Amino acid sequence: MQYKKIVAVVLLLAAITCCFVKCIRQSSGSDSRGPLYAGADACLQCHKNIAESYIHTSHNKTSVPVFFDSIKNALLNTNTTVNYPNGHVVKLEEDGKNIVQSQYEGGSKIISEKMEMVFGSGEKARTFGYWKEDQLFQLPLTYLTNMHLWTNSPGFPIDHPYYTRPIISRCFECHASYVYHYNENTKPLEITEKFKANTIVFGIDCERCHGPAKKHVDFHKENPGEKMAKYIVSIQSLNRTQQSDLCGSCHSGNPVVLKSVFAFMPGDSLKHYYMYYPGSFINPDVHGMQLQLLQQSACYKQSTLTCLTCHNPHKAESKTQETITASCISCHNSSVHSTQIIQQKKNCITCHMPLKASRSLDFNNSTENKSIPYKLRTHRIAIYPEAEWE
Ligand code: HEC
Ligand code: HEC
Ligand code: HEC
Ligand code: HEC
Ligand code: HEC
Ligand code: HEC
Ligand code: HEC
Repeated sequence: MQYKKIVAVVLLLAAITCCFVKCIRQSSGSDSRGPLYAGADACLQCHKNIAESYIHTSHNKTSVPVFFDSIKNALLNTNTTVNYPNGHVVKLEEDGKNIVQSQYEGGSKIISEKMEMVFGSGEKARTFGYWKEDQLFQLPLTYLTNMHLWTNSPGFPIDHPYYTRPIISRCFECHASYVYHYNENTKPLEITEKFKANTIVFGIDCERCHGPAKKHVDFHKENPGEKMAKYIVSIQSLNRTQQSDLCGSCHSGNPVVLKSVFAFMPGDSLKHYYMYYPGSFINPDVHGMQLQLLQQSACYKQSTLTCLTCHNPHKAESKTQETITASCISCHNSSVHSTQIIQQKKNCITCHMPLKASRSLDFNNSTENKSIPYKLRTHRIAIYPEAEWE
């Protein structure tokens, strides 16, 4: 039974992915970000290799709509149920043309909402949203990939199922390329954020990192002989701070937002978008704060290394721990170590970038009321005591 469940969930997740790949190819025509944008399909013609490899990245897959037909069969076998301490139960179910998360009290169904949008590539986790008019709400159950486990969504109350946590535009700013949103005074003193769902540009697309590229596309279509890039920023020729700020627009935590990072262009400065809380640099969390952690490393301070030294933004798992280790060795002679350490046969990352549990995010298994840590590689490359090697 357990095995069947895992297979079913794997199929379900694979189906979501396949469908998205199909979808990105079908999307066409005008871009909801305005006339300066060409849309990801437009890049395929001249940057075929990059575009085809990019499709498989976590960035590209980090937000997708749920497609019923392709996940139905997989779901029929999952039979997934989470029990809450108050005796209520949340189940994943098929309901007509939808997959729903339903809450049961005793034997009776009291709430049932559709899974309509996915956040997270599933590298580690996926969480789901449902629409109510123009508002998006997060569903109670989140899927943890490594543990093959449906559990209470992070930060939710632990004793009962919860259906009314709004998903806000800030989630889209880091997990999508665009959504049109506006505020409405629904009740006195209460502002509600609403979205136009048909304006969502799912995933992080080429122009999210490279800036609007319609003019670039038009120019090169009209001048096929021109081999020098026109009307597009060369990220390689930006300075180090500019390169770090580009990744930092989503990898430097959740500071005060001065201006939406949907507008961030390569070459911009983060100072115009974010104001960091005093103290947020003292002990940065491993979740989402890779930039600050890296900046605290001797490697960063005493060399010109950037995120791109170890990560290729166009390839999924482009650099494995082995190839990243090779880049460590390109700067460090491995003979810095005592024979005792070398005999342990661990790689550099286990000891110098160990896994750490996030302090800002964890999951709660309601049934057993147990906290499930969310572990990430710390980007503060340093010497850690043996007890922390992982
Ligand atoms: C009609 C052909 C064509 C299309 C379509 C096209 N490009 Fe290009 N692009 C080029 C050429 C030619 C170059 C210069 C040679 C190279 O780097 O491949 C280039 C270079 C680039 C560069 C490198 C700039 C540099 O100097 O480092 C980026 C980034 C880029 N394109 C992004 C895009 C994006 C994003 C899209 C889709 C929105 C796109 N291109 C669509 C032809 C095109
Ligand atoms: C997560 C941010 C990000 C996304 C998304 C992204 N790129 Fe890039 N791209 C970069 C960075 C950073 C560089 C500079 C790479 C370097 O210096 O090694 C780059 C370089 C390039 C270049 C020039 C260098 C080369 O390898 O030819 C092209 C062309 C390009 N990107 C096209 C694309 C296209 C097309 C897409 C979408 C399919 C895309 N990029 C998506 C960050 C991104
Ligand atoms: C628009 C926001 C955004 C930008 C800009 C961005 N990232 Fe990310 N990045 C994310 C999100 C969100 C995830 C989590 C994706 C998931 O698994 O759902 C992620 C995941 C990653 C991962 C882990 C998954 C993988 O692909 O191995 C790496 C590494 C990464 N980003 C590096 C970078 C680098 C390097 C840059 C700059 C060139 C960058 N990111 C720019 C939002 C962003
Ligand atoms: C400031 C940028 C930022 C914001 C805002 C943000 N995230 Fe993320 N999120 C990330 C990054 C970066 C990762 C992956 C790496 C990490 O955890 O550091 C991630 C990871 C995730 C994952 C796991 C993806 C995977 O499979 O690895 C989910 C699910 C997720 N976020 C959902 C959300 C939701 C829902 C919201 C809004 C409540 C949100 N995020 C807001 C940047 C952000
Ligand atoms: C671009 C070059 C470069 C790369 C790549 C690099 N480092 Fe470093 N690293 C340095 C420099 C420079 C220092 C400071 C001088 C020293 O201690 O050797 C340093 C320092 C260190 C230190 C000592 C830290 C301390 O606080 O005393 C460790 C450990 C380390 N690096 C491990 C790594 C590991 C592991 C990797 C790969 C994940 C790596 N480095 C990648 C350049 C680099
Ligand atoms: C010295 C090498 C190095 C540099 C520089 C580096 N990373 Fe990483 N990064 C790693 C390693 C190693 C992993 C873990 C890969 C794995 O386990 O497969 C990782 C994983 C990640 C992940 C996935 C989270 C996780 O824990 O699995 C994200 C997100 C990420 N890096 C973002 C960034 C960003 C953003 C920058 C620049 C601010 C950056 N990295 C710079 C080596 C590096
Ligand atoms: C089994 C754990 C372990 C592994 C694997 C490991 N290190 Fe270390 N490293 C340490 C410890 C502990 C120290 C502190 C000095 C010592 O005891 O030798 C250290 C020290 C360092 C230093 C600082 C040396 C100095 O003189 O300041 C660098 C640089 C370094 N390691 C790089 C690497 C690189 C590169 C790799 C991968 C080839 C690696 N380490 C693999 C545990 C490890």
